Amino acid sequence: MAERFFAPCPRGLEPPLAAELEAVRARDVQSVDGGVAFAGDLALAYRANLESRIASRVLWRVDGFSCRDERELYDRVYAIDWSRHFEPRRTLRVDVAASTRRAVPSVESPPGGRRSGAAARVGRTQSSSPLASLEFATLRVKDAVCDRFRAERGVRPSVDKRAPDVRVHVHLREREASVYLDTSGEPLFKRGYRRDAEEAPLRENLAAGLLALAQWKPEQPLLDPMCGSGTIAIEAALIAADRAPGLGRTFGFQKLTWYDGPTWQRIRQAARDRIRAAPAASIVASDVARAAVAHTRANLRAAQVESFVLVEEADVLTRDAPAAGGLLLANPPYGVRLAEAKALEAFYPRLGDALKRRFSGWTAGLLSGDLRLAKLIGLKPARRIPLWNGAIECRLFLFPLVAGSARGAMLK
Ligand SMILES: C[S@@+](CC[C@H](N)C(=O)[O-])C[C@H]1O[C@@H](n2cnc3c(N)ncnc32)[C@H](O)[C@@H]1O
Repeated sequence: MAERFFAPCPRGLEPPLAAELEAVRARDVQSVDGGVAFAGDLALAYRANLESRIASRVLWRVDGFSCRDERELYDRVYAIDWSRHFEPRRTLRVDVAASTRRAVPSVESPPGGRRSGAAARVGRTQSSSPLASLEFATLRVKDAVCDRFRAERGVRPSVDKRAPDVRVHVHLREREASVYLDTSGEPLFKRGYRRDAEEAPLRENLAAGLLALAQWKPEQPLLDPMCGSGTIAIEAALIAADRAPGLGRTFGFQKLTWYDGPTWQRIRQAARDRIRAAPAASIVASDVARAAVAHTRANLRAAQVESFVLVEEADVLTRDAPAAGGLLLANPPYGVRLAEAKALEAFYPRLGDALKRRFSGWTAGLLSGDLRLAKLIGLKPARRIPLWNGAIECRLFLFPLVAGSARGAMLK
């Protein structure tokens, strides 16, 4: 029988995530707001966790039922044979989310919804669930799991909200509840390579998603001229090396009873065997800040792809293009304070001028939460793709910098 899964992702990245899941042989792939539902056997959970560059998690659906109140929720969760899934010596965390839309949940960030768990963040939106308090629902689910273990085995799992062995996610929608076991554990954007973080690093899965949305292929030169800690260049290097993003970490499914070690070792070894050693790509990362350059180098080493990326200290306003054409992809600095915002208003037009002057023949992809960016930069975007960086609504602006007849693509 096919198992059902749900992979949440940053909103806006559902289509490239669906393509990734199809590539690992997922079936019945269906994008919804904030993630992708799919089906397959349990080994698919291993492959999806190991190979997905865009998913935030892979959740395995244990049960689904209609549910009108906390009592019914408790009874139905108690009825699940939890011993089949994990041992009571494992530590546990429960998260409950409720959504307002007709969609499968995004546990990562429920669209317009509410969630509760250790990191409870209760939104102001009216949830569609009849259950009054998500905190109380979370407690009841935790009690149901623990009571079932105690009744059957005489012991119960203890709760660990920070680093649990097992995570149970429940999603409530109108009169329905879905119960999931998290097969990822730590979120998948934690690849295990980040050594030093600049102030505002992009999440790894968002960086991989930008590369997918910009349709970057390893044969194409790539430059991130404001690289910070190097996330975009490192994700590109992992793609160029055909290195599975999860090779450097462990996963939640390894703590579950049905974990099949030999199958997992086989899948992981096959991924190791296909890693390319020789750089097929021309990937350049640069930043004006010396510390950022050092962090990028340290992270590249930790990700074992340092030979794939040339790292330089350079100002984007004066640096040359490293090739006749390619993809420039970056998230430029953005300002929170007024003084920073003013400085950026002066920076963006100069950035636009530098791109026009030195990067004709390239496509520039800039991610920004500042929706005026295209106007300030003085270039006409071919596309503005909406996506979310956590709670911040952003656009990926794609500017074709047409060689020779550049003016056609420009505003002034
Ligand atoms: C928002 S951060 C980029 C974060 C990066 N994507 C990451 O994942 O770590 C913006 C970066 O732009 C750099 N920057 C600012 N002005 C610059 C300039 N004139 N030339 C090159 N880099 C610059 C900053 O040093 C900072 O590292």
